[in-house]
Amino acid sequence: MAAATALLACLLALAATAPAPAAAQSCPLRTDDVTIGVDLGGQLNAPYSPGTDPLGVGRIGLRAIFNGTELTSTEKGCPCEGWGASAVDASGATRAVYYNNANSNAPASPTLAPGPVPPGDTCTAESSVPDAFTVKHVYEPSGEPNVFRVVVTINNTGTTTLSQVRYRRVMDFDIDPTPYREYITLDYNGNDQPEMLEAWSDNGFASSEPGDPAAVGTVIVPPNTKALLSGPEDHGAVFQFKFADLAPGESITFNTFYGAAPTDEQAKAALAGVGAEVWALAYSTIGNSSTGFQANLNGSAVFFFAFGGVGGVPLPLPDSDGDGIPDREDVCPFVADPEQVDSDGDGIGDACDADTPPNCDGIQLVGVAPEIWIPNPHKLQRFTFSGQKPGSNPIASAVVDSIHQDEKVDTYCCKPDAEITAGGGAIRPWKSLKGEGRAYSVVVKVTDTAGRYCVSPPLIVRIAKKKSKHVPFSKQGVTFDSTVPGTSCSKKKPCKKG
Ligand SMILES: *[C@@H]1O[C@H](CO)[C@@H](O)[C@H](O)[C@H]1NC(C)=O
Ligand SMILES: *[C@@H]1O[C@H](CO)[C@@H](O)[C@H](O)[C@H]1NC(C)=O
Ligand SMILES: *[C@@H]1O[C@H](CO)[C@@H](O)[C@H](O)[C@H]1NC(C)=O
Ligand SMILES: *[C@@H]1O[C@H](CO)[C@@H](O)[C@H](O)[C@H]1NC(C)=O
Repeated sequence: MAAATALLACLLALAATAPAPAAAQSCPLRTDDVTIGVDLGGQLNAPYSPGTDPLGVGRIGLRAIFNGTELTSTEKGCPCEGWGASAVDASGATRAVYYNNANSNAPASPTLAPGPVPPGDTCTAESSVPDAFTVKHVYEPSGEPNVFRVVVTINNTGTTTLSQVRYRRVMDFDIDPTPYREYITLDYNGNDQPEMLEAWSDNGFASSEPGDPAAVGTVIVPPNTKALLSGPEDHGAVFQFKFADLAPGESITFNTFYGAAPTDEQAKAALAGVGAEVWALAYSTIGNSSTGFQANLNGSAVFFFAFGGVGGVPLPLPDSDGDGIPDREDVCPFVADPEQVDSDGDGIGDACDADTPPNCDGIQLVGVAPEIWIPNPHKLQRFTFSGQKPGSNPIASAVVDSIHQDEKVDTYCCKPDAEITAGGGAIRPWKSLKGEGRAYSVVVKVTDTAGRYCVSPPLIVRIAKKKSKHVPFSKQGVTFDSTVPGTSCSKKKPCKKG
């Protein structure tokens, strides 16, 4: 089978070198690494343009350049690639337009009237079946890297309802660097095939004329069955869709996608990125007859074409940790963190961020003893601090965050009992005349360049009640903000200097 189809591919390649008048113009569209060539009929394998094909094939279908090596996917051998649409009109007649570069199975349709395909950001080709319908293909970048979208619209431009509305698309893959010997996967998301998928097979030589679902090719994939890594063989893919009846003026729109990626995993991520529902993936072959053959999943280009909006379930983006956030948007792809917290804003979520915040555990006050005797209320006692340690990032700031005390702030009239200054602070060595003495509690905050921070444990300074008398702290707790001025000054209780 492999030898026979390879031979067929060669013969068709020779036949196809004859110029096809309708394909004299082409529209190449490029992404960073992938190029697609579209001709006047809206099909691939258009004449190479502009310039001369460095690979000497002379056609451009779907090519990729990964790691500097240009690879073709459909241009070599039979240029078989095409599409067709058909519908039954009120008189019971089947009306059709179809097109395929393999002339043997798609004779030029007399009803085909392809529009111009100007090069640009999009390539548009519109064909019409008079008094029945038009088919418009708009090729454009999909927004997903290295994937093109084709918006296909079938419009009932006649005066009667059309039934049995069908669209078929076929592509013979010849994947470099082992053309005519590829592996194919025909797959869809979920357990049930898309509602509108009527028939499919891995036969890239099938006619592009829609019709009998049993005629999509020799190797038909039964309903609700997938073909996974079938090969190595000169394989391709054909998909036939059947849509609901179209009333006059009514239209249906769906998407086709063409693209490539360096690996199988990346190709599937790209399919998910465009919300593909059903697809064909094509791989080159590695190995030999003694070692056995395998699909080249990782070491070359993986090509695909796919459909969306055909009644299936869009392939979701990979979500390894199952937290509902796709891997490529997840700040921690492998640790479930639906909240997506990223405190330091470095793109790596807290749940998986190796960054450690600064450490405040060893901070001590400098310039002030833990217990002050004899208290002198006229002079603020200044202090700094030391002992903070950086985490994974340098320290950006280290400041006194708060100073609190366990006595009301009005005991030294009008003046604040404490101050916060650059790199430190000050406390007033004073206490209420009754009670057990005053306790100040200083908290230091250290922030790093990534915005992560620590706060010190409370650093206590006591104003003793009596010399060397280790009195217990007040039972009130350090609840009063020492940095605000007192509030109960009056003529009866005048402010003192301080
Ligand atoms: C369908 O064709 C009609 C003309 O027959 C046009 O007015 C209408 O805009 C078309 N609809 C779409 C979706 O292209
Ligand atoms: C098959 O591949 C193996 C591993 O690359 C190699 O050692 C061997 O020579 C190859 N055999 C043939 C017949 O090409
Ligand atoms: C392809 O690469 C992926 C990810 O690196 C790896 O898990 C997988 O085993 C590789 N497959 C083959 C066939 O080499
Ligand atoms: C590209 O090159 C890298 C590094 O040599 C290699 O790991 C990777 O498989 C190559 N990818 C392709 C698509 O050739």
